[in-house]
Amino acid sequence: MAKEYHSKDFEWEELRKQIENDPSLSYHLQQPIDYSEPSQSQQDSSAAWNTFHTTHSTAKFFKERRYLFKEFPDLSSSSVFLEVGCGNGSTALPILRTLETATVYACDCSIQALDSSIHNIRRASNRKPPLESRFHPFHCDFSTNAFPPWLACNYCKQTSLTPQHHIPDVCCNAPTDLNSFLKDGKCCIGGVDVVTLIFTLSAVPFNKMPAAISECFSVLKPGGLLLFRDYGLYDMTMLRFEPDQKMGYREYKRSEGTRSYFFSLDSARNLFKGAGFIECPDSLLVALISCLLSQLELDYCCIKSVNRRNGKAMRRVWVHGKFQKPV
Ligand SMILES: C[S@@+](CC[C@H](N)C(=O)[O-])C[C@H]1O[C@@H](n2cnc3c(N)ncnc32)[C@H](O)[C@@H]1O
Repeated sequence: MAKEYHSKDFEWEELRKQIENDPSLSYHLQQPIDYSEPSQSQQDSSAAWNTFHTTHSTAKFFKERRYLFKEFPDLSSSSVFLEVGCGNGSTALPILRTLETATVYACDCSIQALDSSIHNIRRASNRKPPLESRFHPFHCDFSTNAFPPWLACNYCKQTSLTPQHHIPDVCCNAPTDLNSFLKDGKCCIGGVDVVTLIFTLSAVPFNKMPAAISECFSVLKPGGLLLFRDYGLYDMTMLRFEPDQKMGYREYKRSEGTRSYFFSLDSARNLFKGAGFIECPDSLLVALISCLLSQLELDYCCIKSVNRRNGKAMRRVWVHGKFQKPV
């Protein structure tokens, strides 16, 4: 099982050479000159994801990400999570099931996805208190909107959630629009320990990614982690896109209107570092300590599998990353 995940069935560099020397695939490498198609509005994008979730709402399509704790062992030592783009609950469920005291806040731009996640978590809940009592889904398109102030209010963002700031005992006066689960006059929940971005960022237009990642950064506590997993450059699904599905450099649109970007290690590193995250600290000593303590990472995960229907070998590439908000 361990071999199946975060492993290297093949070398990414070998795959890269092969793809970049294949003339039939050259359109994937071209930098776009002008993508004159009008850019998709966020409303269209949410509608496309609603259609996707309506089509794939049956139990058959629900796959709990059982590998999550193997891939990201740090999950075990955290208790407040924000799962961004929660879909049908594939990532939220294993967290709730494994960590009995964890609270998972989860957003999605698709109402249909939120409905499916609630349904799946309720269905899996066979204990008391039920898993859904620790699951708080909410509607948010994080590429165009800030997360709601009850998650992290402006005052906390500028004080306790800012690295190197003294954490006040009472953070601020309670605003009027508090969600019902905020108790004891608190202004907000005070940010989260971990943000999970699992196969969600690729759905955001590339030019909106920096703002979307900064939004995740702003609600994390200092020292908090962002766990990232998404499509990697030259993944089999990228190579299947036709030239007319190309929306930008390494960006494509599926027939139902959802889009996908394919990350290289450099593009992921630049985006997360640009928002203020650390992947690996600069000083050797700090690097050593933090690698020992928290093993910050960024790597390709290259898995070979065989299509059961036609027996063809498939080379899957994902990018796996762990980034930290400085303390
Ligand atoms: C491939 S699913 C991944 C779901 C989940 N994270 C998982 O581990 O299975 C991507 C999800 O991101 C959501 N999504 C796409 N763009 C989004 C955006 N801008 N804001 C919030 N959610 C978004 C989609 O509706 C979809 O549910």
